[in-house]
Amino acid sequence: MDAAWSPSSWQTKPMAQAVEYPDQAALERVLRELSCLPPLVTSWEIERLKAQLAEASGGQRFLLQGGDCAESFEECRSDVIVNKLKILLKMSLVLVHGTGCNVIRLGRIAGQYAKPRSCLTETRQGVTLPSFRGWLINRPGFTVEERTPDPELLLRGYERAALTINFIRGLVEGGFADFHHPELWDLDFVNHSPHADEYRRIVQAIGGSIRFLETVADRRLDEITRVEFYTSHEGLHLLYEQAQTRQVPRRPGWYNLAAHFLWIGDRTRDPNGAHVEYFRGIANPIGVKLGPSITPEELLDLVRILNPQNEPGRLTLIHRFGVSRIDSCLPPLIEAIQRAGGVVLWCCDPMHGNTIAAAGRKTRSFDDILGELERAFDIHKRLGSRLGGVHFELTGENVTECIGGARKLTEEDLQRDYRSDVDPRLNYEQALEMAFVIASRLQGRCRQ
Ligand code: PEP
Ligand code: CO
Repeated sequence: MDAAWSPSSWQTKPMAQAVEYPDQAALERVLRELSCLPPLVTSWEIERLKAQLAEASGGQRFLLQGGDCAESFEECRSDVIVNKLKILLKMSLVLVHGTGCNVIRLGRIAGQYAKPRSCLTETRQGVTLPSFRGWLINRPGFTVEERTPDPELLLRGYERAALTINFIRGLVEGGFADFHHPELWDLDFVNHSPHADEYRRIVQAIGGSIRFLETVADRRLDEITRVEFYTSHEGLHLLYEQAQTRQVPRRPGWYNLAAHFLWIGDRTRDPNGAHVEYFRGIANPIGVKLGPSITPEELLDLVRILNPQNEPGRLTLIHRFGVSRIDSCLPPLIEAIQRAGGVVLWCCDPMHGNTIAAAGRKTRSFDDILGELERAFDIHKRLGSRLGGVHFELTGENVTECIGGARKLTEEDLQRDYRSDVDPRLNYEQALEMAFVIASRLQGRCRQ
């Protein structure tokens, strides 16, 4: 690696989405405090995830990454965390059943608090204020006080991330996975789906497999295997990330110990910019979001900078073009990576290219999301590549933020229970339905 890298070398590079704090002394005090707090994850967990992602790029595992667009400090509550964990576990069980692959469960959770914004200001009735940029930076209320960046929020965010991960670890360790009764999975929506029979067959088969395993082992499933669960967030606010970047005894390199996996957003992936500089030096597995403006040359630059040793598991490419653009955007990128012999894990985020405005809100249609995913599977297969993961914005709550799905939510329904401060998420039912579709799409992939 270039000797010039250090946890702060990004500060010499152009910085997209920079945050201006009015009180520098307060910021510095907070950063000093942050850099002394104990870590949230360990280097051996990080290396284990990297090894599993390497297997996913070889086709032996499948990545399921999901969670809120932006976690809210106000929703750092036991029921919300439990429900999010439950939906991810249930989706993963459906995927394990459908694909025969081990599924890597990676939450957008325990630190997903900073948001990139296309527009750094927001105007309402002639008043212009800084945009809401996630709870790590400012607050959502439309007042000068709430929208002014507050360094104390960095500490509050770290603490909430710690509370969240602590609770998740407790649930997972305690054998929380309630896999035993798929009939209790609130599957009413199945009755509304044109694929009802197929879904019911999958649910019954999962129930049968669990009972079979438990009979053979003479123990409950959650005692047989502890599920593994990893955390991730967008590495956007580099002062925060720098404070979490540490060396550990008996391993070379620098780890970001605030999450197992971090990704670079589509707005901050300039190969010459600060984010890419920071990311190239950390040892964690990392992702890069790829939107329609990326060129094959730029992608190859990124791959060279971020994964110069071509280390399997290090780099996940998360494409998010939208259903109408994936056919033209994705193939040249796959071909460029193939020509360069790059070992990467390809993952599809079918959310961020499909955001539309309807009834004065941001929404996404279930059919567009599904459409992009189906095309992604087809394109990779046609080109002899492999889609090894999916990335969703979802919640375990019954919100009404995305339209469509088996219950055919409409634009009018958006008024009923729209809670996201930022992007619209799949609700519990829509997310589970999506898992069923992927499972039937990947029929026995790892058994072949
Ligand atoms: C996100 O994942 O919430 C996000 C902002 O994505 P992207 O960088 O792909 O726009
Ligand atoms: Co989002």
